[in-house]
Amino acid sequence: MSALIALHGLIAMIWVGGMFFAYVVLRPAAQTIEAPLRLRLWSRTFERFFPWVWAAIVILPASGYFLIATRLGGFAHLPLAINVMQGLGIVMILLFLHVFFAPYRRLRTGVEAGDFVKAGQALRQIRQLIGVNMVLGLITVFVALAGVA
Ligand code: HEM
Repeated sequence: MSALIALHGLIAMIWVGGMFFAYVVLRPAAQTIEAPLRLRLWSRTFERFFPWVWAAIVILPASGYFLIATRLGGFAHLPLAINVMQGLGIVMILLFLHVFFAPYRRLRTGVEAGDFVKAGQALRQIRQLIGVNMVLGLITVFVALAGVA
């Protein structure tokens, strides 16, 4: 059971850490690169990062609800930290699905077609949404570790 909690924590770390690296480190570092190259860089970066996020949005709720059912005795007396994690986790998953199916798709098609205006608008939207999701992720991990430990 502790291996499952560790897997849950590990995949959360990969998702939130990946967003932190993209938003706080790569974004300012890439700002001076010319638009066509920068947009291609981001498109390829997301292409490699998003499969990990897909793994996270499957593993986090699956392992989390399994732990609730088997370790915490169901939903009746859940600690506040778990409820906050569950709520913020669902919002984060929905935001990611929106990023994946709307602006990320436009970024990819824009880059492929050489339409860098369209791709640039899409990247701005992705940046805002990943910024929000990163903050939610950091809060979730903080609440989980402060309330669960
Ligand atoms: C989506 C629904 C989610 C559910 C139902 C859920 C449920 C749980 C449960 C039941 C535990 C173990 C508590 C215990 O046994 O004492 C846990 C731990 C944890 N969760 Fe979640 N969780 C969810 C999403 C997330 C998300 C989105 C993140 C972070 C991005 C996250 C980060 C953590 C962390 C860091 C721990 C502590 C792990 C450890 O101590 O090793 N969870 N979660």
